[in-house]
Amino acid sequence: MIELTNELRIGHPVIDADHQRLIDIINEFHEQSKTANNENNMHATLKSLLAYGREHFAREEKIQRECMYPYHSMHFHEHKALLEQVQDIARSYFIAKTRPINEKSLAELNEFLKTWLIGHVRKFDTNMREWVASSDTPSETKLFSLPSQDMVALVIDDDVTARSLLAKLLSVMGASKVLEASDGIEGLRLIFADPVPDLVISDLNMEPMDGFSVVGAIRASNKPYIARIPVIIFSAADDHDLTQKAMSVGATAALQKPFNPRDLSKLLHYVMKNQIGAAS
Ligand SMILES: [Fe+2]
Ligand SMILES: [Fe+2]
Repeated sequence: MIELTNELRIGHPVIDADHQRLIDIINEFHEQSKTANNENNMHATLKSLLAYGREHFAREEKIQRECMYPYHSMHFHEHKALLEQVQDIARSYFIAKTRPINEKSLAELNEFLKTWLIGHVRKFDTNMREWVASSDTPSETKLFSLPSQDMVALVIDDDVTARSLLAKLLSVMGASKVLEASDGIEGLRLIFADPVPDLVISDLNMEPMDGFSVVGAIRASNKPYIARIPVIIFSAADDHDLTQKAMSVGATAALQKPFNPRDLSKLLHYVMKNQIGAAS
């Protein structure tokens, strides 16, 4: 029998209730498997696991998108694979009957179903905790705003999903315009064009020009209003010296992914407030 321990709770009431329901179904299957010749009931329970799993995954994916969880597309593919696994099991044990039902195979099946859900929750669902926890209030209300509503922001990232999430975050924070570039060269072109961005947030690892080179080119500009644009560098690579390296090339701040929207909005708020303070 499995249970929803605190370690497995996400802190979102809908998601936790759904996980509890899936656990109940898996436990029900476990109970049924103890009785001989109970195949029809077990098959029906697997079908309800599949149906409820499908419903839950769709709900969870919607919550992730609303909370701007950056790994929602990877998570979507994980969910899809989970559903296919249960479909395969239902088919091979109860429809095509290519696999025998005996004490040993039922023990394996029960063990598989336990890991199927708990493994996913532990490895994937708990990662979204910071983003979705207690999001019964809209996530937007928890964000910091930009100190002025007249700011143009530029997001440079070769990953289109991450880029649009950041652009959305900046709009929600009150940026009057958000420009987007898919690499460093395109980013620099926008920085030296009109309107000049008040803030640049750039990914580090991009081809052919990385985030550090973008910072270098901005700082080297002979136009003071360009040279002092705040630049925030973020990186998905595990790099303990990221902040130090970013500062040494002249970045204003650095962030290691994954970051949550509230922390990022707080950082942007303070960076821009200092910028306004320094200019006046
Ligand atoms: Fe999930
Ligand atoms: Fe889940």
